Amino acid sequence: MKRQKVGLSDLESARLSYGCMRVAGTWTPADITTEMREKGKRAILAAYDAGYNLFDHADIYCRGECEAIHGEVLKDSPSLRQETQIATKCGIRFSGEPHADSPHRYDFSAEHILWSCEQSLKRLGVETIEIYQLHRPDLLMDPAEIAEAFTTLKEQGKVRYFGVSNFVPSFVSALQSALSFPLVVNQVEIHLGRLDCFVDGTLDQCIEKSITPLSWSPLGGGWLGAGGKVADDNPQVELRRKVQETLDEIAAKYEVSRTVIALAWLLKHPSGIIPIVGSTNPSHIKDAVQADAIDLDREDWYRILVAARGASLP
Ligand SMILES: NC(=O)c1ccc[n+]([C@@H]2O[C@H](COP(=O)([O-])OP(=O)(O)OC[C@H]3O[C@@H](n4cnc5c(N)ncnc54)[C@H](OP(=O)(O)O)[C@@H]3O)[C@@H](O)[C@H]2O)c1
Repeated sequence: MKRQKVGLSDLESARLSYGCMRVAGTWTPADITTEMREKGKRAILAAYDAGYNLFDHADIYCRGECEAIHGEVLKDSPSLRQETQIATKCGIRFSGEPHADSPHRYDFSAEHILWSCEQSLKRLGVETIEIYQLHRPDLLMDPAEIAEAFTTLKEQGKVRYFGVSNFVPSFVSALQSALSFPLVVNQVEIHLGRLDCFVDGTLDQCIEKSITPLSWSPLGGGWLGAGGKVADDNPQVELRRKVQETLDEIAAKYEVSRTVIALAWLLKHPSGIIPIVGSTNPSHIKDAVQADAIDLDREDWYRILVAARGASLP
């Protein structure tokens, strides 16, 4: 895969990132079997084999087990570390933590950021995280307090670069104004079922500030992938099936899978979107890579957009 610079950093990522949210096969640590762990490790190894080098995690993915599974892969094959860029996240806290009646909430306090980072480093078995992201906007966020925590992590060599996730542009600007170094990514939901970022200023801000947009669930969680289904009772069943049909027609023309066209559509955007592929099936992980070689023409790009809007353009 071709490489691209990530934001204003010296990191170079493959055009697709690999998302590790599903590598434990469950959100409940107690349910993980040895087989599930092995399947997760095989998925991560398949991603390395296929040329992915930016791996996305979060402390909450199976309550840290996804990071731990990746840590096991790196322990078994230490040479992989040099071709690994770890992106992980903090800031979401589960209900019941630390008190039985604590609510599900967001927490960008310096204390929580510093503590979470330490836990992620231990689980991953690494000294440094390449990109540390704030997962979902904490309405109580104090940019000055975050800046202090980030600066400490940077000075201690525990984090190289920082980013955000699910931030609207005004939140990005407010945080950036307190930092002496640039935020390098904004990880947001962008796919053919979720077009907001194209028109709400998110991608424009990424272009203006050289922030790399990472697209989570680039296949909409599965329905945009080859063979992905839309249930009959889905409220958007007609629209989604029309999108699938359009993708399939264009995929036939380029002689690739539906997955590849759905990803190539994101790659075409001038902001340099990096889609985070979330499959745990090695052949799906490999197939997705073909998107890097497809340059959709403008007409096809707009055909797909119109199908996704469910209405022609004005
Ligand atoms: N920042 C955030 O708030 C946030 C939220 C959600 C996710 N994320 C990140 O985004 C990453 C990707 O999310 P996602 O897993 O929802 O992404 P996705 O790539 O849109 O969806 C992956 C799902 O689609 C299925 N799928 C069905 N057919 C497929 C095909 N032909 N090719 C590929 N996949 C197919 C996969 O199943 P198989 O495994 O069987 O292929 C898997 O269950 C996560 O790992 C995480 O790193 C971030």
